Amino acid sequence: MRNTLATIDGLEPRTAQLVARRQQVLGPSYRLFYEKPIELVKANGVYLYDRDGTEYLDAYNNVPCVGHCHPHVTAAVAQQVQVLNTNTRYLAEPIVGYAERLLATHSSALGHVMFTCTGSEAIDLALRISRYFTGGSGLVVTANAYHGITTAAAEISPSLGPRVPLGTHVRTVALPEATGDDVRAVGTAFASTVAAAIADLERHGIPFCAFVADSVFSSDGLRPDPPGFLQPVVDVVRRAGGLYVADEVQAGFGRTGGVMWGYQRHDVVPDIVAMGKPMGNGMPIAGIATRPELLEKFGADVRYFNTFGGNSVCIAAAAAVLEVLEEEHLVEHARAIGGHLRDSLTAMTAGHPSVKEVRGAGLYLAVEVVRPDTKEPDARAAARLVNGLRARRVLISATGPSANVLKVRPPLPFSQADADRFIGAFGDALAELEV
Ligand SMILES: Cc1ncc(COP(=O)(O)O)c(C=O)c1O
Repeated sequence: MRNTLATIDGLEPRTAQLVARRQQVLGPSYRLFYEKPIELVKANGVYLYDRDGTEYLDAYNNVPCVGHCHPHVTAAVAQQVQVLNTNTRYLAEPIVGYAERLLATHSSALGHVMFTCTGSEAIDLALRISRYFTGGSGLVVTANAYHGITTAAAEISPSLGPRVPLGTHVRTVALPEATGDDVRAVGTAFASTVAAAIADLERHGIPFCAFVADSVFSSDGLRPDPPGFLQPVVDVVRRAGGLYVADEVQAGFGRTGGVMWGYQRHDVVPDIVAMGKPMGNGMPIAGIATRPELLEKFGADVRYFNTFGGNSVCIAAAAAVLEVLEEEHLVEHARAIGGHLRDSLTAMTAGHPSVKEVRGAGLYLAVEVVRPDTKEPDARAAARLVNGLRARRVLISATGPSANVLKVRPPLPFSQADADRFIGAFGDALAELEV
């Protein structure tokens, strides 16, 4: 599903030329989606358009959570950028008003918010605060976690692969195999794995600091269920004197349907929440929410100035996002349409030899693709499905430790008709797989 210049041969001339120019000037760490990359020029709602005006159904992008180029958000940005765009060192009502509204969506224990530009910076800041508060440095993360690109975030991101070393202060834990309905069994199994990792840190003289977890375990193949399985884990973490950092960069802002935050599905209260991606519907705003006592000493001793974090224009965008989420009832919509999409996918793939499971929450769904004979993960078939859908003008991608889990994660205003269009295209791509 990812493209580099190595596959330029089969592309039409203009695309090949642009890929070549890109390769010439952009650092080679970037990747393109799809065997045939798409040159996008505009977007609206859940639709993307290429240079020729071809429309694509976006079933992948979570950043434009209220829909691409939502008029309320673009108007707020356009209005603000013409009057003032400055930083957190000046007094301004909008940033205070936004912080109040954002905190109101969280557990009441979380009383302070700090703004950054990216999710990686939010994670980085969460780690600094956690270390300062606990005096420890040991971190526990999941086996294929992704938490970002700063040095500290990359050190806790095993999904970046073996050439990106984990910190010596980092331990990884596998998610429990059985993610069935038995919440107690799943939670207890996971908690004992986390306890063993904490014990191993202590055994090596590394005092425990925090357990950092994506609330839906996206890069681990999307494992949001059963709701509540994080409770015993958080108990273990707290008993060991550590903090629980909820990474809501993927799960947040209503994605999982029915609730604003992924941690709320587990009925736990994090010590720090990292937010990002959909927060500004594409404008670079991210941040953390935390318990005020964690910031008491850190705030007194450490100056934190993030030049662009919380600038006036991004705050205007973020405030508009909260308004749209509320006015268009998108959190509830994600639950309803996500349920419909999941049910339809489950029914369509039932008994299919290449599909092991359909899972997910709200409008974040996964289809696990396996080899019909051995039931081993099948990344090739997953890539064929991704590219097969792209050929039908429907966009998704794949994730998971073996890249065999299809990731279906559209902007939240995805309608019933969009869901049905997706299902039709998916059925055709799946049928093609058997040929
Ligand atoms: C769970 C999670 N945490 C953190 C990040 C980092 O966010 P950003 O790319 O905004 O730095 C990502 C980005 O994909 C993410 O998925």
